[in-house]
Amino acid sequence: MVNLMNNAITQNVPSAWYSTLENFIVKGKNAEIWDSEGKRYLDYVGGYAVLNTGHLHPRVVEKVKNQLNDFSHSCFAFAPHENAVKLSEELNKRYPITSDTKTFMVNSGAEAVENAVKIARYYTNKKSIISFKGGFHGRTYLAMGLTGKDKPYKEGFGPFPEFVKHALYPYLYRDISDDDALASIKDLFKKTLNPDDTAAVVVEIQLGEGGYIPASNYFLKSLREICDYHNILLIFDEVQTGYGRTGEMFGAETVGVNPDLVTLAKGIAGGFPLAAVLGKAEIMDTIHDAGIGSTFGASPVSCAAALGVLEAFDNENILGNASKQSEMMNSFLKNLMNENEFIGDVRGYGPMIGVEIVENKDSKTPNKEKAQEIINNCRDNGLLLVTCGENGNVIRFMGPLTTPIKHVEEALGIFENSII
Ligand SMILES: Cc1ncc(COP(=O)(O)O)c(C=O)c1O
Repeated sequence: MVNLMNNAITQNVPSAWYSTLENFIVKGKNAEIWDSEGKRYLDYVGGYAVLNTGHLHPRVVEKVKNQLNDFSHSCFAFAPHENAVKLSEELNKRYPITSDTKTFMVNSGAEAVENAVKIARYYTNKKSIISFKGGFHGRTYLAMGLTGKDKPYKEGFGPFPEFVKHALYPYLYRDISDDDALASIKDLFKKTLNPDDTAAVVVEIQLGEGGYIPASNYFLKSLREICDYHNILLIFDEVQTGYGRTGEMFGAETVGVNPDLVTLAKGIAGGFPLAAVLGKAEIMDTIHDAGIGSTFGASPVSCAAALGVLEAFDNENILGNASKQSEMMNSFLKNLMNENEFIGDVRGYGPMIGVEIVENKDSKTPNKEKAQEIINNCRDNGLLLVTCGENGNVIRFMGPLTTPIKHVEEALGIFENSII
């Protein structure tokens, strides 16, 4: 039978936008989705780590509906609205930056990263930026330049800004220690970068697209010290680690290190497009009038949704559920690793868990084909997952933090049965 969805997609959208599912999604509820053929899946992709509060969280839906009774858009810089100010106030209070904080809202993770770097360069009046191999920061030009994973994100799109240099990110399973990674920064300072002309270091607390590799408190604290020593700003890209993904509300709390600026997106608005740059007020306030802005940036509908997300975190013990999930998943997946030759590593903060698939435990050779086979089996058995990592061999779990425990058990059972 001709697959009508695939036909419609290939005729109308670029081939780079391949689809994993074979049918259109028609309905979602918390951690479950249904396709046009009525097949049900547990959604551990969650719109790529966006649906931390699940599909159609009732508090998000209610806030959005209420907002739509009044108005749907006003460019904040022209006609300010209360939702954006309330949300900024909440984020300023909640994010662990150690001094007065201000928030500027944009549309996407990439736009937030672009703006964080723009603000850092303006404030420091310095040029160069350090980011990390394996890091992912988005698909606009500067964000691509910061990204340290070439294929498929940068291939054929260069050249990229010369002022961005990549250091090593620690990766214990592949023998890159924290000290190796820190030494690579010192090496950059010796050979290609003047620390006195370096504006910022942009880092993920745990690599997302780069393979679900967590950075230690020691590594991030040392980065903080290097930054302080050279008057460089530390920017945490928490687009993927924010909103409970690492077990605490923000990754900065999990690792106990505070940045100067941070980017948030993905889970911030429960499935509506929104992103934010937060930073120390003294940094954010240096920008001249209209030097930063965005037409849709603080959409009243997305901000309403984001207030619904915070209300859910405040009232529904979502972080408690995340911690229960992470205990269950870690213990189950680590047992599975002990029994299974293909599972080389299980790692990550909180429920942000990556399972690295290899040919065998001795060689540790990345096994992308096996990872894809497991993912296809999972999909056929009703569990949606995707890979990440330099070699596409890490399976990552990005389910809602609101997933009921019975669905976590079901997902783990499907995963076990799909590794054959
Ligand atoms: C850490 C990180 N930064 C930035 C981005 C880019 O976000 P967006 O796709 O919303 O532009 C992503 C997206 O996956 C991400 O994981």
